[in-house]
Amino acid sequence: MTRGKFITLEGMDGAGKSTHLSWIPGFLVARGVKVRLTREPGGTPLGERLRELMLDKHQKLHAETEALLMFAARREHLAKVILPALEAGEWVVCDRFTDATFAYQSGGSGLAWDRIAMLENWVQGSLQPDLTLYFDVPSEVGKARTQAAREPDRFEQEGRSFFDRVREGYLRRAREMPQRVQIIDGTETLEKVKQSVENIILSICFK
Ligand code: TYD
Repeated sequence: MTRGKFITLEGMDGAGKSTHLSWIPGFLVARGVKVRLTREPGGTPLGERLRELMLDKHQKLHAETEALLMFAARREHLAKVILPALEAGEWVVCDRFTDATFAYQSGGSGLAWDRIAMLENWVQGSLQPDLTLYFDVPSEVGKARTQAAREPDRFEQEGRSFFDRVREGYLRRAREMPQRVQIIDGTETLEKVKQSVENIILSICFK
C-alpha cells in the first residue's frame, strides 16, 4: 500500500483558507484519491474539546499552557487519525497544523521559537506534511474579512500587531522549509488563488 500524502492549510484568520478548503477534497477525489479531512485544534474528541476551550473569549489560557495542550492534542490526532489514514493509503487534508502553533503561540503570543521546536520534535520526530498551502495576506486584509464575516472568536479579537507577528511567524516557517511550505498570495481574486492552488497540488503531489 502506498502511503497517502499529508496536506495542510495555513493562514491567518481571514486569509481564505476555509474558502479553498471547500473544493480541495473534491479536486483530489476526482483524481482517484481517498481523502480524510480533519482540523486542528480538533480532529479527535480531545481535540474538539480543546478547540472549545481555546476559542472561548471568556477565558484566556497562558500561552505556554496553550502550546502544551495543542501538542498533546496533536499527539492524539497523529496516533488515532492522521498516521493510520496515511498508512491505509488515504490522503489527509488538515485545516491547520504545527505551523499554526509557531505562528500564533510563538509569533503572536511571544513564546520562544525553540521551545515550540522542541515540542515539535518530541511529538512528530521528523514527520512533516508533504505539502503546506500557506495563504498569505497582510493583517489589515485578514482583519477586514473576519470583521465583515462573523462574530470574532478569541484569536480574531486580537489587534493588528498580533496578526502582523502571526504573519511573520508563518513567513519564517516558509523560509525554513521552502520546499514544503508554498506561499499563496491570498489577496488575489478567488479564481486566481484557486488556479495557483491547483497547479501547486498537481506539481507537488501528483508528480
Ligand atoms: P480557525 O482554524 O481559523 O477556524 P475557523 O475558521 O472555524 O474560525 O480557528 C482556529 C484558531 O486556533 C485560529 O485563530 C488559530 C488558533 N490556533 C492556534 O493558536 N494554535 C494552533 O496550534 C492551532 C492549530 C490553531
